[in-house]
Formats: sequence, C-alpha cells, structure tokens
Amino acid sequence: MDITSIKIFDTTLRDGEQTPGVCLEANEKLEIAQALARLNVDIIEAGFPVASPGDFAAVSMVAARIKGPTIAALARANKKDIDVARQALEKAERARIHTFIATSDIHLEHKLKMSRLQVLAQAQESVRYAKQFVQDVEFSAEDASRSDWDFLCQIYSAVIAAGATTINVPDTVGYTTPAEFGALIKYLRENVTNIDKAVISVHCHDDLGMAVANSLAAVANGATQVECTINGLGERAGNAALEELVMALNTRREYYRAATNIDTRQIYRSSRLVSTLTGVVIPPNKAVVGDNAFAHESGIHQHGVLNNSLTYEIMQPESIGISRNAIVLGKHSGRHAFEERLKHLGYDLESQVINNLFSQFKELADRKKMVFDRDIEALVNVKKTQTAEWYRLDYHTVVSSNKTVATASVQLTSGEKMIEEASCGDGPVDAIFKAIEKAVGFEVGLKDYQLKAVTAGEDALGEATVWVEREDRIFSGRGLSTDVIEASAKAYLNAINKMLAACELPTDGQGEEDN
Ligand code: KIV
Ligand code: ZN
Repeated sequence: MDITSIKIFDTTLRDGEQTPGVCLEANEKLEIAQALARLNVDIIEAGFPVASPGDFAAVSMVAARIKGPTIAALARANKKDIDVARQALEKAERARIHTFIATSDIHLEHKLKMSRLQVLAQAQESVRYAKQFVQDVEFSAEDASRSDWDFLCQIYSAVIAAGATTINVPDTVGYTTPAEFGALIKYLRENVTNIDKAVISVHCHDDLGMAVANSLAAVANGATQVECTINGLGERAGNAALEELVMALNTRREYYRAATNIDTRQIYRSSRLVSTLTGVVIPPNKAVVGDNAFAHESGIHQHGVLNNSLTYEIMQPESIGISRNAIVLGKHSGRHAFEERLKHLGYDLESQVINNLFSQFKELADRKKMVFDRDIEALVNVKKTQTAEWYRLDYHTVVSSNKTVATASVQLTSGEKMIEEASCGDGPVDAIFKAIEKAVGFEVGLKDYQLKAVTAGEDALGEATVWVEREDRIFSGRGLSTDVIEASAKAYLNAINKMLAACELPTDGQGEEDN
C-alpha cells in the first residue's frame, strides 16, 4: 500500500496567538516552539514579524534557536512585509516566507479595492521578490474557499511560475464543507497547469466545527500539507486541531493511505503546555486531549474495556503520551525518584531547575497525600511561565465568612524590601488582589480570572490563571497551590511581574531571576 507523507505546518504561534485574549511572551513562544520541534512538526509558523517589534523578536528567537523544522514567517504580499520577514528569519536553519493576498470578490471589493488583475500581478510580484531571499516560498490565497475557482487556478499557476513551492488554500472564514472543499482541491489539482511543481496545502478555520473534516477531505483529494494549531487555537472559533488531524490520519491510516512525521507520544504533553501558557482551558470532552477522551463512564463500556480495550477504544492513551498507570509519588519520595519521574514524562531539565522543582514537589507532598504525574506536569508548566520576580509572596492571611466582609493581608518581598498591606474586598480573592495592588503601589488592571483543579480529590492542586492589562497589552499569570487563595495570589503576582518586565512602571523593586 502506497502511503503519502503529509506535512504538518503548525501555526499555533501565529494564527493560534490570534485567539482572543491570548498574548504570549517571547520566552513562552520559544517553549512552545521547542515542544513543536519535539513533536516533529515539519514547519513552524513562528509569527507575523511586521505586526509588532515583539512579533519580530519572537520570530528571530525561534529562527535562531530551533533546529529541525522549517521556520516560516508570515508577510502580506508587499515588499516591506517580505523584507521584515526575511530579516526575522535570517538565522533560521531552514526558512520559509509565507506571503498572502485575498482572492475572493468580497475581499477584493470591500477590503482591498483592487481588481482581479491587480491582485494577480501583486501576488506574482511578491512571490518573485520573496524568492530572491529564500528557496522556500508559500503563497496563500486568503478566503480561497469563497473565491472563483478559475481565478484561483490562474493565480496559483502564476505564483508557481514565479517560484512558489507551496500553494495554500485557506478556508479563512470556516465556510466550506468537506465535499465542497475536497472537490475544490481536486479541481485545483486538475486545472492548475504547473501543480506538479508545488505542494498543495490547506488551512481551515472552525467556524462551523468542520475544520478538521474539511482538512481531511482535502488530504483525500491530494493536499499534502495541512495547517493546524495545538488544541485548535486560533482566530474566532480557531483552526484545525493538530492532535485531531494527526490522530485521525494515524488511526485511519489505511483509509487515508497517508501518514505524518509526528511523534504522537508528545501530543498530550504539548497540549497541556499550550493550555497552561495561553490560559485557554481544554474542554473535558475535547477530542483526543480532553480529560474525558479516554474515560469510560458506563458499566457496559468499562466491562468491555477491561476484557479488551479494542471494544471501546479506537486509540490508546499511551499513543498520545498518557500513561495508564500514572505512578504516584508521595512525601517519602526522594530527589532521585522525582528526577526519574520527570525523565519518564519526557522532561530533560537542568539540575538547578530540578532542584527548584523538587523543593516545590516536597512542599506539595506535605500538603497532598499522593502526587500524580498531572501534578508534576503542572509544576513544570507553571514554572515555565515564571519570569524575573519583582515581587514575591512571603505570606498571606485571609479572613472570610458569609456574615462578614472578607479581609486579607499580605507580605511581599521586593529586592531587599519587605512590604505589608491589608485590604477588604468582595470575597477572599478580591481582598487579596486588592492587598497586593496596594503593596505594589499601582493600578493593576485585572481583566479576567480563572481557577481549575489539576486532578480530582479534595486535596487537589488548584491552578489559577489571571489576566491583567496595561498599555493595551494583556499579561497572563499562573499560580499553583493546594490552597486556592494562595494559587490566586501567586498567579496575580506572576502577571504583575511579567507586566513589570515589559512596561515602565513605578517600582523601586529589583527583578530577580528565579531559576
Ligand atoms: O485564515 C487565513 O486565511 C490565514 C492566511 C493568512 C493563511 O490565516
Ligand atoms: Zn487563518
């Protein structure tokens, strides 16, 4: 049986970062890029360098540090965008410029105010320009699924003639259906004159919940690159989810006669990392990576799975990196056992980081009878979100009841200085946030707050996420503790520390690197 190789083009760092409320720092983008490299994706779209200096810096950092996958940068079809993209990609081992222009009449008339002939000329000229700097040029016809099919054939033929090595067919607004999109890919394969010289790629959005189905229909009709994001993050309803596409191709290999290069055992871990860093929670019933994806509730199902897992499981949790028998550590577990467990979970960390995590693990084990793999993963992921610490929480006290106003007092350390403050508020979390705000001495701008349990049980770890806003930028912070008020305070301070690292604010504290 001939198996076609499907390239995975991950755009978590570009389209995924356009998810409402998501704003990743450069070091967080690098963490995600490292996870994508471990997953063995073929292409990482690292960002849109012309969009902001922060985007430029993140693309340059990913290009310089990540070896293996091709690093792509997005550029509109104009010289300035392409120049900035190629500068950001300068240090990449393998670089791709991804340039795009809209092709649907709706976009031409209402957004670009250009004729089809003008768009055709600009697309061709931009690809020719990009080709002077890199061999690998991708061209996207934005809103392709609502464009005239013959115009698409014309423009794709022209850009391939100008040097495009990949032509991408985006369903920008998530409008198409599997049968229609499959037919479009077939039509392009049969009518773009020089299609044998380029890879056909698809990029589907999930507005009608069909992004993955549409991408798979495209694969069945000859597309050999799919664009996707971890956990399906992205603009509006998101993009096609990498984990769903990959596991569908893996599980139905014989049907699709296609395979990817992805190391599927990295899927679960990458999904959790992206969820922690972006603050976008994974719904429990999410396909492949949701908490319930492998849970069998009904007695009939449990009985079947116990006899033979094939009865109700079409894929095994181990195949995405979930161990069925998650080993439990406790307060008597030593550093060696902890380090071994980290290694088993796939973390290759520096000894100083392990030491730091081990003391956090010990604190946790004192409060929690059993420490599960999920707890350890949460400690590692939250550690990755920590930045230089202007302020550190020394202690807090909160008094709250249903009859009195909640009050909180905190002591923070900032460099050599200790600051104590107290406040009351609408409930314990509000009171502690207000006490912290008084202690740091400026208005923090809380936007949102979320709390979830990492595992089940009354002594479960609570993971708090906080979003704060300053100068039109959103900063997210995370905190972990078995005490949810402490988790919330830590998350708030983490967001404040990130804000202080990025903006000029009134503080006399010193940022201290925390390893
Ligand atoms: O959705 C879209 O059309 C895009 C393009 C830039 C590829 O993200
Ligand atoms: Zn998109």
